[in-house]
Amino acid sequence: MSEQFTPNNPLPQGAPVPEEMAVFAPEVEAEIDHHLAKYPVKRSAILPLMFIVQRERGGWLDPPGVAYLADRLGVRITDIWEVATFYSMINTEPVGKYHLQVCRTLSCKILGAGKITEQCSRRLGIEPGGTTPDGMFSLSEVECLGSCGTAPMMQIGFDYYENLTAEKIDEIIEKCKGGQVGNGVR
Ligand code: FES
Repeated sequence: MSEQFTPNNPLPQGAPVPEEMAVFAPEVEAEIDHHLAKYPVKRSAILPLMFIVQRERGGWLDPPGVAYLADRLGVRITDIWEVATFYSMINTEPVGKYHLQVCRTLSCKILGAGKITEQCSRRLGIEPGGTTPDGMFSLSEVECLGSCGTAPMMQIGFDYYENLTAEKIDEIIEKCKGGQVGNGVR
C-alpha cells in the first residue's frame, strides 16, 4: 500500500535523488542535525540547511549539494529548486567571493539604484549577472530586500549597505578587496 499524506508526512510520494551526493565533515553534519532537531517536519529546516550547504559547497548549491539536501530533508530535487530559485540569497550558480546584490525595486529605483548598479559595473568591469575573472566579485540586481526606507541599498552576504552613493560603492569595493567585508561565509 502506498504511503498516506499526513501532517508529518507532507510528501508521501517517492523522493529519488541522484547518486552523486555531497559529503560533509562530522562537525557540519552535527550542525545540520542541530537544525533538523528543531522542527517536527524535516522539510521545515530547508532554509537553514541550504545556507549551510551553500557555505560548504563554495557559495552555491551545486548538484551534489542539492542531492544531499533532498536526501536529508526527504523531499524531491524539485522541492529544493522551488525554494532555491525563490530566494536571492540562495545561489543556484557559482558566484564570486563577494556577491553584490543591488535592489532594483521601486524605492531604490526612484532613489538611484540604476546609478548604483552602473557604478558597480564600472568599478568591477562586469554587467549584472556577471562575475569578475578572478572570481572575487559577482553583481546581481534583485527585488526588494525590505530596506526601502534606506534606499538605495544592496546586500553582500548577510549584510546590508544602505543610503548608497557612488562614493560609498567605491569604498565598499575597496574594503572587499582588503578583506574587511563579510561575504556570508561565517
Ligand atoms: S525597494 Fe529596495 S529595499 Fe525595498
